[in-house]
Amino acid sequence: MFRWFTAGESHGQGLVIIVEGIPAGMEIDEEFIGVQLARRQKGYGRGGRMLIEQDWAHIETGVRHGKTMGSPIALTIKNKDWVNWLEAMSVEKVEDYKEEGRNQRVTRIRAGHADLPGVMKYNFDDVRPVLERSSARETASRVAAGALARRFLEEFGISIKSHVISIGKIKIPSTSDIDWDKVEQSDVRCTDENTAELMRREIDEAKEAGDTVGGTVEVIAENVPIGLGSHTQWDLKIDALVAQAFMSINAVKSVSIGPGEEIMDEWGSKVQDVILPVSNPDDPWKRNTNNAGGTEGGMSNGMPLVARFAIKPIATMRNPLPSVDLDTGEEVLAHFERSDVCQVPPAGVIGEAMMALVIAKCMLDKFGGDSLSETYRNYLGYLDTVKPRNTYK
Ligand SMILES: Cc1cc2nc3c(=O)[nH]c(=O)nc-3n(C[C@H](O)[C@H](O)[C@H](O)COP(=O)(O)O)c2cc1C
Repeated sequence: MFRWFTAGESHGQGLVIIVEGIPAGMEIDEEFIGVQLARRQKGYGRGGRMLIEQDWAHIETGVRHGKTMGSPIALTIKNKDWVNWLEAMSVEKVEDYKEEGRNQRVTRIRAGHADLPGVMKYNFDDVRPVLERSSARETASRVAAGALARRFLEEFGISIKSHVISIGKIKIPSTSDIDWDKVEQSDVRCTDENTAELMRREIDEAKEAGDTVGGTVEVIAENVPIGLGSHTQWDLKIDALVAQAFMSINAVKSVSIGPGEEIMDEWGSKVQDVILPVSNPDDPWKRNTNNAGGTEGGMSNGMPLVARFAIKPIATMRNPLPSVDLDTGEEVLAHFERSDVCQVPPAGVIGEAMMALVIAKCMLDKFGGDSLSETYRNYLGYLDTVKPRNTYK
């Protein structure tokens, strides 16, 4: 069974990731994971934290001589910023809270964060233990886990990309003809340079006003075989798994499969993806369009798996909103801690990781295998069957 967990606080010693179920014999090294972690750290509109951290995941277990052993893979990422939080995040007991500095209690709760429900639920008198884990620092762990999934999917020719569709009010004119090299070079992960410039201005304006700005991202997985996921049970549906994976990313507030609500005002005849005749049974099944985003009935249909998510403007602002004090319930200004102005570009990289983890799970659910060669054999055997019925007996 493929599963994964993360642990770690934003300013603690570091992040811990355990990924279980990757078959034996897969080549992997720290550099491969490092490339993905570096992509997450880029982006116009990010705050000072990214200048401190240069994330690197150490492979602690599960890999020998450059190949997976089939055992759980544990990764750790050190938080460079931890040295500035030794007392505030000390594992050992400390004397007491301070009146000033990092080890004072955080009581000015922030709306739009886990702060209020978290302190109530866990019975804290300090927001720190809640904000430390709810921080999007945790998404570095997901990108590291996602890199393992991505490496696994590469073996089957499956690739995953993302690009930014909108930031604030600025939207790309078209989502077709994406130049992926340009996206990777763009600090707002946008294919169109004119739009990218307007997006940067939108971020600058928000920053000058002490405010924040959100946006939307599209993630595309190519070469996904037909039949991953299942129509037979609600929690096996691949579109539902992608939706949960994306919705779990901090600050994501809506998810759509394919163009989603953009086509919901069209008539049915305009939005179905017509199945094209098969001239060569060895070719994959094809459609004239991909409005279903590559899924039908909770299963991949052989077209690219395409999903979008919208991410809200960050809740921590240099011009803080009014809030209340946790002790007294009286009005105060919300706590401000170093913060991004726009997190949309890195969210694309996190979305790719989550998509990779979902597809890897569906692949392993379907094809199993304790070794990569066994998984691959099962995969090839299956591909041989997904043809018009009279060409496969
Ligand atoms: C890549 C990324 C970076 C983020 N950076 C910040 C940040 O610097 N400041 C902040 O207040 N929220 C940031 N967020 C969003 C918060 O983590 C999120 O809004 C908060 O945990 C509450 O969760 P919710 O919005 O899903 O309800 C970031 C989110 C992502 C995906």
